[in-house]
Amino acid sequence: MPIDTISWQGDHVRMIDQTRLPNERVDIEIRTAPEMIEAIRALRIRGAPAIGIAAAMGLVAALRPHRDDEEGFRDRLGEYAADLSAARPTAVNLSWAIGRMREVARRHPDMAAAALWERLEQEALAILEEDRAMCRRIGESARGVIRERAGILTHCNAGGLATSGYGTALACAYVAQEDGKRVRVFADETRPLLQGSRLTAWELMEGGVDVTLICDDMTAATMARGEIDLVIVGADRIAANGDTANKIGTYGVAILAREHGIPFYVAAPRTTFDFSIADGRSIPIEERDPAEITHGFGTPTAPAGVKVFSPAFDVTPARYITGFFTDAGLLTPPYETSLRKLRNGTP
Ligand code: MRU
Repeated sequence: MPIDTISWQGDHVRMIDQTRLPNERVDIEIRTAPEMIEAIRALRIRGAPAIGIAAAMGLVAALRPHRDDEEGFRDRLGEYAADLSAARPTAVNLSWAIGRMREVARRHPDMAAAALWERLEQEALAILEEDRAMCRRIGESARGVIRERAGILTHCNAGGLATSGYGTALACAYVAQEDGKRVRVFADETRPLLQGSRLTAWELMEGGVDVTLICDDMTAATMARGEIDLVIVGADRIAANGDTANKIGTYGVAILAREHGIPFYVAAPRTTFDFSIADGRSIPIEERDPAEITHGFGTPTAPAGVKVFSPAFDVTPARYITGFFTDAGLLTPPYETSLRKLRNGTP
């Protein structure tokens, strides 16, 4: 069963506070736009699809007290939508989900505030349900590729904690396991915030999947020993030519995979493809607080005052990507053709 990462409680959002994992599982309740923005920025909820769902639900929660305010409802909607959309820049799912919510209001210009609020609530729930179904189909799209006893390396967390369902990259492992294949997942730690060790290792163990934790700098050696049959990672934004932004370090993993002759796959729903940009050079890359590197989880690990560069994501050029596991099936090169078909809805 997928993890209950995020849910709508009728008047507020409930989500697992992922900053507390794996040491304790604590749910938080969100009722306002500033609370949701803080939760997204602090990575209490994170992962591209999950922050899209969170923003849509956060918008509904924040608008609830304004349901009787015919004058101000649409102004508040515009204001909260803009603020939520800007909470993090790289994952396109965030602005996509908020854009979809805005579109509901645009399509119903004369609807009363209370009715429009209910319509927005339905839309946020639809985004969550659709994501769950897409995760499942992503996992199924990898069936022909993943063999019995396959060693799968993944980076960061593209699992149930990053979506409303099985995840994207990890959906491939969960579906393989359901099919009776005893896959072996290698999770790298994913410095600096350790989504691999804190989250991926935790959720795979909860799901009964064989997982081995390695440090990021052990990836090359693990590949050289022949442990890895394929790499599967998630994505935060995929440009029209297939260039893919994902957690910092993904690009390095892709280069190592190429050197070792290991196929490198990206797993993502269609909501992560951004056809409005031609290639990866235009993907905005979030930079994070230097303290996340110099004071990882509290303890100083660098000299005070050192200069720090802390991009949260990098871009893997499409030429390193063997294929995309998507809710529309496995997409392979040439991406000009396969991604154009996805865009046109005819893959
Ligand atoms: O900074 P994070 O933890 O939000 O980064 C998450 C990732 O990079 C994931 O791989 C990506 O969002 C895909 S999640 C299905």
